[in-house]
Amino acid sequence: MQTRAQAAPFPHTLLLSNFYAGNAQVGSGATFERRNPADDRDQVSLAPESTAEEVRAACVAARAAASGWARTPAPQRAEVLGRLAGLLSQDKESLSRFVAREVGKPLAEARGSVQEAIDTAVFFQSEGRRLYGQTVPSELCDKELFTYRRPLGVVGVITAGNFPIAVPSWKIIPALLCGNTVVWKPSDDAPGCAWLFFRAFQRAGLPAGVLSLVFGSGKDHAGEFLVDQVDRGHLNKISFTGSTRVGRHIGEVCGRNLQQPSLELGGKNPLVILADADLDLAVDGALWAAFGTAGQRCTSAGNLIVDRRVLPLVREKLVRRARALRIGDPSNPGVDYGPLINRRFLDAFSLQRETGIDDGAELLLDGRRILPGSEPEGFAGDAAHGLYVGPRIFDGVKMSMRIAQEECFGPTVNLVEVDGMDEAMAAANGTPYGLSSALYTRDARAMLRFKEETSAGMTSINNGTTGAEAHLPFGGNGWSGNGTRESGIWVLDAYTRWQAVNVDHSGKLQKAQIDITERAPPESEDFEAILPRVH
Ligand code: UN1
Repeated sequence: MQTRAQAAPFPHTLLLSNFYAGNAQVGSGATFERRNPADDRDQVSLAPESTAEEVRAACVAARAAASGWARTPAPQRAEVLGRLAGLLSQDKESLSRFVAREVGKPLAEARGSVQEAIDTAVFFQSEGRRLYGQTVPSELCDKELFTYRRPLGVVGVITAGNFPIAVPSWKIIPALLCGNTVVWKPSDDAPGCAWLFFRAFQRAGLPAGVLSLVFGSGKDHAGEFLVDQVDRGHLNKISFTGSTRVGRHIGEVCGRNLQQPSLELGGKNPLVILADADLDLAVDGALWAAFGTAGQRCTSAGNLIVDRRVLPLVREKLVRRARALRIGDPSNPGVDYGPLINRRFLDAFSLQRETGIDDGAELLLDGRRILPGSEPEGFAGDAAHGLYVGPRIFDGVKMSMRIAQEECFGPTVNLVEVDGMDEAMAAANGTPYGLSSALYTRDARAMLRFKEETSAGMTSINNGTTGAEAHLPFGGNGWSGNGTRESGIWVLDAYTRWQAVNVDHSGKLQKAQIDITERAPPESEDFEAILPRVH
């Protein structure tokens, strides 16, 4: 990486290159740029648009490094992660500032997202001293049975830009700990964050070639080229976070190669407020879940499902609080949310407004692009140069409407009226997604029912839909994923395969199921003879 001088007041542009086979690679020349979504005059990074040949070369090089890394004892692999955690902690502030600059996350949230990667590294540092297999009793004498976790080989990682360090850490860290080598294609919204994270692995002492970085866009570019490597036999696994549409495609490619990808896809996450809920708490949770990160989390709340007895109060509180949200530059500590990450999200967000109106929903808050002259009170950004939008609230939403069914990244939420727990449960499960759900109530039986019946992979009671912790299984059902989980001990199954081993010390051929010591079967009893008769 080099930096290029730029006129003040903006920091330098990061000039990035691919990194594989243990070296920075001179690219074919084509590049793409990333600009600060809060200020388009700030060119943050310039990265290569990788060719298919470059992506293939990265995978071939990763294969060459795979056996050496797999043979490195797990506690030694884990030591690298310990050093990584130390470096990320040491650089937390500068990394967080860079995350804020490149993807527009408010500084406090950016710090939280870097912390999530630190937590993950710490967790898996210690897992290197476990990575347990089992000893299993044999049915035969003088024979031992064992299980071992074995690495898969080369893993292709493709990540989104909304959590540009945290989500990659959920994949790359356990994949490496388990003894795989990794080729990472980060989001084209966050190439600079990816390079800084990659650099931290290098500084932590990860051997050359074990982690590779190829930049580029998704469709028809590096993302697709990486998925192609599954068909070509260069990859053993894909781990992907992104849209359901792309996830389906990856699932098809991996499926025909008899591989199981890790797919973390979209969500249309319900947050239910029952009539007995603590309404201030519920509105606090709804506000953060719907509008935090400008609604750009896969766990953001999309549908607020509210009992009709408290809907008027919830509506009034929510609109009042949403109106008072401070929008602006993410480096400003007072802002609640920053810009949208890219123009694609802006276009989809604008279209969702039209869709909702077409569907017959009522707009309580408009959620339009903030342009010079239309800045809301307290706005703390530069509307002429940032991708800012106001919060949007739709009222009178029915679960059959498109806006209740379709994921939309952006600060937008639907109010859905229900009457009692049965209707609330049906509405909460009324989309094909199943990532995260939330329930606000004081009723223990309702809590129990919600936990049992929700179709989501993650659920919160008296808390919003976002904010999963780094050591719990993260993932969804239905359109939200293929059932694989990230984080904690559960992710180990995604990056290893079980090997069963038997060792026979008997010195003779012993056949399982056949050469077992026979015991004479109990003789059948004549009940007629032994039981007293009634007459
Ligand atoms: C995502 O939006 O892709 O649970 C991940 C949360 C965060 C991670 C979100 N810890 O909201």
